[in-house]
Parts: sequence; structure tokens; C-alpha cells
Amino acid sequence: MSKKPVILSGIQPSGNLCIANYMGAIKNWVSFQNDYDSIFLIVDLHSISTMQKPSELRQRSLSFAAQYIACGIDPDKSIIAIQSHIKEHVELAWVLSSITYLGELNRMTQFKDKSKKQGSNINSALYTYPILMAADILLYQANLVPVGQDQKQHLELTRDLAVRFNNQFSETFTLPEPYIPKIGSRIMSLQKPDNKMSKSDENLNNIITLLDDPNIVIKKIKRAVTDSKSGIKYDVSRPGLANLLTLFSLSSNQSIEKIESQYSESMYSVFKKDLADSINEMLRPIQKEYKLLMNDKSYIKSILENGAKRASLRAYKTIDKVYRKIGLLKR
Ligand code: TRP
Repeated sequence: MSKKPVILSGIQPSGNLCIANYMGAIKNWVSFQNDYDSIFLIVDLHSISTMQKPSELRQRSLSFAAQYIACGIDPDKSIIAIQSHIKEHVELAWVLSSITYLGELNRMTQFKDKSKKQGSNINSALYTYPILMAADILLYQANLVPVGQDQKQHLELTRDLAVRFNNQFSETFTLPEPYIPKIGSRIMSLQKPDNKMSKSDENLNNIITLLDDPNIVIKKIKRAVTDSKSGIKYDVSRPGLANLLTLFSLSSNQSIEKIESQYSESMYSVFKKDLADSINEMLRPIQKEYKLLMNDKSYIKSILENGAKRASLRAYKTIDKVYRKIGLLKR
């Protein structure tokens, strides 16, 4: 049997998984899992770099796992695991921090952005976040890492650290390649179509979550910002409409051209009604499966336990090698 390349990605259990996460990330993961040795994490340790309510964090980690599965991540094909269940993530992060320069962390634009927003809580986890992310990836010798455009810089740091470690202590880590889908970055906020749709947006009218009720979806689409021009046509100078056309295309698997020709003379109200239906059709099977899964939490927990076990075996191999190479005495 030839060895499949390793793919790894993760999402923080904060906010609400939304259709941008599905269309831009999880849907791709589902199609990757046949051809890759796949690991999909819920990166709970990353999420504590911003303030979390413990009870919500606990609930969300389980709920996100159920949503991964409901979206089609198959626990028989892929490892689904909670980052904190595998202690080697933190161990490798510490080792990597010893070869990371402050200058490198200072250059991270996400840290600059987040610390601006965070004001009074610029903690050191927010600063060293990219090192933990590098550990997530290098621990499993990942070849391909699907991420959003905003994570590209973190991937570059990961590669730099891998090369540095390999040069200093001999070949240890695989160099990961980023996979940056174009779609993810094209899904915009419903109310502010110049901004990306983000799962941590506090204004829930900006996003459609995977668990939104059909009626809520109808309402949110109805209220989505468009413009006063007439005609349903893809035009970058009409960002609200362009976004809705993208959502229609992705939720119905039809080309934008086809949708344009079908609705060219339609009123926004008709177009929006059909768009909401199309999104609800996409979400229906996911929500149905999610409800079933959440009715049996012990099943989800057993998937996570199994995922952690399988991941730990592999993580241990890497950390053992790393510890030996840097001169830590074997236990
Ligand atoms: N930092 C990533 C994000 O916010 C999440 C993440 C953490 C991740 N570890 C990872 C993504 C490892 C890919 C691989 O999107």
C-alpha cells in the first residue's frame, strides 16, 4: 500500500460555524479525505488566546465535532480530534519556541490586528499562537494544510521553523504546503459586504450559521444589504449582490451565469427568496444529521477519544524524535 500524503487543518471552537466555513473549508476537507491521510482538529488551545467562557467552550468543542461529522467528515476515514487531548502539541510548541525569533512573531499581521482589537488583554498566547499552529502541523508531518488567506503568513513561519530545525538538528520535519481555496475569501458579510463573513462576528445578521433555522435564513437573506440598481448581475461594484450570487452558485452547484440568466429581470425579493431556499436545502441534511448526533453525545465523545488515541500515537513518534535530537535525556 502506498502511503497517502497527510492533510491537516483545524478550526477554533469560538463563535459559530457558518456557511463561509463550510463552503471555504469543511466542504473541501470532505473531498480531500479519500485521497489523503486526513487529520481535522478542533484547536481549543488556540481559542483561549482570546477570552472564552468555560461552559461555552466546552459545549462548542463537542458541537463543532458533531458539525464536522454532520458536514461529511467521516471518522472512519479521517482523524477528528480535540487539540488539547494530545499533549504533544504543547510540548512541540515549547521546543519550537526555542528556535523562533521575536522578530518573526513581531511581523505577524494577525497578531497586530488582534492585539489592536483586544486592547486590554494582549496576552502572550496571542503572541505565540503561530508557534502552536506550527506545532499542530509539524507534529503530524503534514504535506498539505488548507487555510484561509489570513493564515498564509503562519504557514510561512511554519515552513521556516521546519527548515531551521532540520538544518540545526538533521532532517526531522516534512515541509508543509498551504492550500488556499479561492472561494473561502469570497464569502462576505451579509450586512457589510466589504468584510469577510466571519464565524466570530458578534452581529449574527452578518452570517448564516450552519445551525440557523430555515426561517432565520430567510430573514437574514431578506435583510442582506444590496443596492438600488436594477437587474441581477454579477458586478464587483455591487458587492452585496455579488456575494449573494456567489452564495446562490455554491449552495445550488450552478454557475453564476446560469443564475444571472434565470433572474436577470427578477425583483430582489424573488431572487432572495429562492436563494434562501437554496441555502436551506444545503443546510437541511447537515442539520438533520447534527440533531441525531447531539442526541447521542457519548457517540461523539467516543469518536473524539478514538481520534485522540490515533493522533497521539503519531504525535508521540515525532516528539520522541525531536526530544532526542535536541539532547533531552530519554525517560
Ligand atoms: N490559526 C488557524 C485559523 O485561525 C487555526 C489553526 C490552528 C490551524 N492550528 C492549525 C489551521 C493548523 C490549519 C492547521 O484559521
